[in-house]
Amino acid sequence: MSQVYATKYLARAAASAPRDLANAALAKFTAIHPTVLIYHCTFVCDARCEMCSNWKRGDRKSDMSLEEIERAFSSPFWRNIENANVSGGEPTTRNDLVDICRVMLDKFPRLRKFGLNTTGLTPHRAIPMLTDIVKMCAERDIIFSFRVSIDGVGEMHNDVRQVPHGFDKANETIRAMQTLQKDYPFNFGISTTIFSQNLDDADNILRWARGENLDIVFNMVRFTDPMLGNSDLADSCKPVGEEEEQMRQFFLDRVRIDPLLDGQNYIYMHYADMIANGYHRLAPCPFQTQGIMLNPDGGMFFCENSEVVGNVLDTDPGEIYFSPESQAHRDYIKNDQCPTCLSPCQMNVAAIKQVVPYAKFLARASREKRKHRHVPTAARTANGARETSLPPGR
Ligand SMILES: C[S@@+](CC[C@H](N)C(=O)[O-])C[C@H]1O[C@@H](n2cnc3c(N)ncnc32)[C@H](O)[C@@H]1O
Ligand code: SF4
Ligand code: SF4
Repeated sequence: MSQVYATKYLARAAASAPRDLANAALAKFTAIHPTVLIYHCTFVCDARCEMCSNWKRGDRKSDMSLEEIERAFSSPFWRNIENANVSGGEPTTRNDLVDICRVMLDKFPRLRKFGLNTTGLTPHRAIPMLTDIVKMCAERDIIFSFRVSIDGVGEMHNDVRQVPHGFDKANETIRAMQTLQKDYPFNFGISTTIFSQNLDDADNILRWARGENLDIVFNMVRFTDPMLGNSDLADSCKPVGEEEEQMRQFFLDRVRIDPLLDGQNYIYMHYADMIANGYHRLAPCPFQTQGIMLNPDGGMFFCENSEVVGNVLDTDPGEIYFSPESQAHRDYIKNDQCPTCLSPCQMNVAAIKQVVPYAKFLARASREKRKHRHVPTAARTANGARETSLPPGR
């Protein structure tokens, strides 16, 4: 992110702080309009990833058409959306992706930040589409952040995504976006999902990304039918035993080594905590009170652990969202799912809006850093991490 763009980003976050705090306070007592949206515009995909099953449920015929999307997003229900993300499936498999994004940018009057995840595996489609979206956001002064998913260097990526030459193809998209960044302001980087197959490659990916001057975020693998259709993959993909500890160390090392205010550190600490404490969630989540997700067919659900509570094709989204049945389901999620949920989705949004948990995180992250600094160099591994196991990071 350029300095100017980063400053603008922080200035916007600061300017909205009073409203964020008021919203968070209000949400404790009553259901409020959502401020965060993740829209899975299709489950059709150009990869067949080992750790995600969305590609198995892709069905173009059941995807909402552009007209249906426009009608659904015309509801005043969306008036407070500030953060909107397009995901899937692979968004760039839709010919009308740019128009879908235009509708979202036009229909959400409070939109501040727009995001997208892509495989980048079909560069001849992805590059012109992403270029158009970058330009649209720049014209509207909306912060655009997007990432290409990279799960290994070279053959590892091809194997995880089950796409021959996938690494080279994704790199073509990445290079085009790095060139575009010279002319337009947007946040860009790569995203890596760590699971049993590529865990040993994590340091390698990190080194490669730094060498390529690419911002990188790591996701810890999770299993959720509503969002990834993959609960049956836990046995084959979830690191257990020593592997799980290796993964915890990897995330803890990021907290110790990367800059304190790196936006991802809060999430990495959350992963390390959850592994250490037997999956007991300590971190806030915006989806508890102000998030919403939309499926390709118009099914609306509260978060990655929520049932579909209605369909925007036949009912106004506000009517679905505020109905007593839907709110009762949300209470069930809060009581039964949140306590053990690993989700990092838009967690930084919640972190910044909740001053106390964030201040606690900063204090703990600083302690981790101090501990790391006091270890003799010889006791560190090649990437600067401690070899010794640390007590639970809390
Ligand atoms: C579901 S994909 C959809 C967008 C696009 N197809 C892609 O792969 O970037 C969104 C993000 O979820 C990540 N992901 C996939 N499987 C996951 C899993 N089991 N746990 C956590 N994240 C996962 C992907 O690596 C990607 O960064
Ligand atoms: S992670 Fe993305 S590319 Fe891979 S199967 Fe899932 S939706 Fe498709
Ligand atoms: S179940 Fe998870 S994703 Fe859903 S609201 Fe709770 S913490 Fe957030």
